[in-house]
Amino acid sequence: MLKTLTPQEPTLDEKTLARALSGVHLIGGEFVPATSGGTFAVVNPATGIEIARAAEGDASDVDVAVRDANRAQKEWAKLSSRKRGQMVSQCAALIRTHVEEIARLIALETGKALRTESRVEANSVADILEFFGGLGSEIKGESVPFAPNVLSVTVREPLGVVGAIIPWNVPLLLMTLKIAPALVAGNTVVVKSAEEAPLTVLRICELINRVLPPGCFNILSGFGPECGAPLVEHPLVRKLTFTGSVPVGRIVAKAAAEKLIPVTLELGGKSPMIVFADCDFDKTVAGALTSMRFTRQGQSCTAASRIYVERPIYDRFVAAMADKVDAMVMGDPLDEATDIGTIISDDQMARVKGFIAEGLATAGATGRACSAMPSDPALAAGKFIQPHIFTNLPPESRLVTEEIFGPVTCIFPFDSADAVLAAANDSEYGLAASVWTNNLKIGLEFAHRLEAGLVQINQNLVVQANLSYGGVKSSGLGKEASLESMLEHFTHKKTIMMNYA
Ligand code: NAI
Ligand code: MG
Repeated sequence: MLKTLTPQEPTLDEKTLARALSGVHLIGGEFVPATSGGTFAVVNPATGIEIARAAEGDASDVDVAVRDANRAQKEWAKLSSRKRGQMVSQCAALIRTHVEEIARLIALETGKALRTESRVEANSVADILEFFGGLGSEIKGESVPFAPNVLSVTVREPLGVVGAIIPWNVPLLLMTLKIAPALVAGNTVVVKSAEEAPLTVLRICELINRVLPPGCFNILSGFGPECGAPLVEHPLVRKLTFTGSVPVGRIVAKAAAEKLIPVTLELGGKSPMIVFADCDFDKTVAGALTSMRFTRQGQSCTAASRIYVERPIYDRFVAAMADKVDAMVMGDPLDEATDIGTIISDDQMARVKGFIAEGLATAGATGRACSAMPSDPALAAGKFIQPHIFTNLPPESRLVTEEIFGPVTCIFPFDSADAVLAAANDSEYGLAASVWTNNLKIGLEFAHRLEAGLVQINQNLVVQANLSYGGVKSSGLGKEASLESMLEHFTHKKTIMMNYA
């Protein structure tokens, strides 16, 4: 049992829980303050009020955590993979009993609406742990024909300590995609949480530490250069996995190259949604709202931030979509009536507003602001931004080429399949894409020719357990969420030959 002031039972008092999680990392199964004693503020983005302090980690905290994880890994790897999987499944069951608590805490911390986003994300943690927990027995190799009287087999072995760096947009889901397969495969993990969202991941780490041996799953909070960089550079870290921006992805990849260790990168996108005139109109308009992840304020790497609509239905589609976004309710993330919550931070507010201002100032372009700002005075300092739908932007506009990571989408008409395919593929990114049509031939042809790691026809879901997820081009390296991701990215294959002649 951890020595902790946090509640042992699930709680629905998210503010008290946030305070109880203040000022600590979780290393070697214990809550510990930063070696420096430093802390930084965690702010509720819906009110601007400080809700907790987080431990400000640096290289000395990283060193303690990695050494603990390294010690723990030797014992953890001795358990059968099936046993490890069973324990990860127990973690899933424990998380399941805390879903509502976790949902309220992540809504408080990130401003994502409880009903549309936070509860879904909390459930996904249990789902993913459950999925990977069931795969323990799949960590197996092959027998390989070589020569008479030689038995040649492969076995899958863990890599050692995994260093994981996560972002703030879907921190619970994105963290679980890394820790669950890493742990089942026999690795131990040190996570550096995102400075904007350190609390809920810490609570999840605490719950998981009630089941797993100490040191298997450690979490540090802190800033990128001070805490993230020493983690990726630490000599005992034998695998890196990162989700975030392209520039930081390059830093992580360079550190991996220096140490000659494997790295997985998930780096965002500029995902096209292509709508043909023969689509199911109402379903596709609704699909555009979910594709753009408006309920997550567009803070998603798979957001459909470029929407191409075949000319005959273009005007009607833009109008119908704007009307539907108008009907979405922006407000208190913890209110069940709310569809759209807040942007995460002042930095992201400034970034997104900069894009919107640039779009509005672009000659000939139109930007329609949808949905009403919340009127509750308690939310006056909240980081709310109205969703914006832009039309008539030139293709070279930064709004069309760069990841905005906010509730902003650009819509274009198209006249030919070849032209829209070329426009869709004209991007440095290649994470996800969707095609909406009742013509099977067109849908499948586009599925093959779109440059993306994930293409969906007539739907646009977020990442799902069991389906390999990961981009091409600048969107990253490697896959997550699947059996393949666990085997390829969290184990190495050893060949063993036995001569019995
Ligand atoms: P970021 O890439 O700076 O941060 C992601 C994580 O990397 C955080 O935990 C951060 O502390 C860490 N980090 C930062 N610098 C580091 C360094 N030198 N060494 C090691 N770790 C470091 O992303 P940020 O600043 O939060 O957002 C900026 C933009 O990045 C967003 O507007 C969006 O376009 C993109 N982004 C994409 C995400 C995705 O899901 N692919 C997630 C978050 C951001
Ligand atoms: Mg950054």
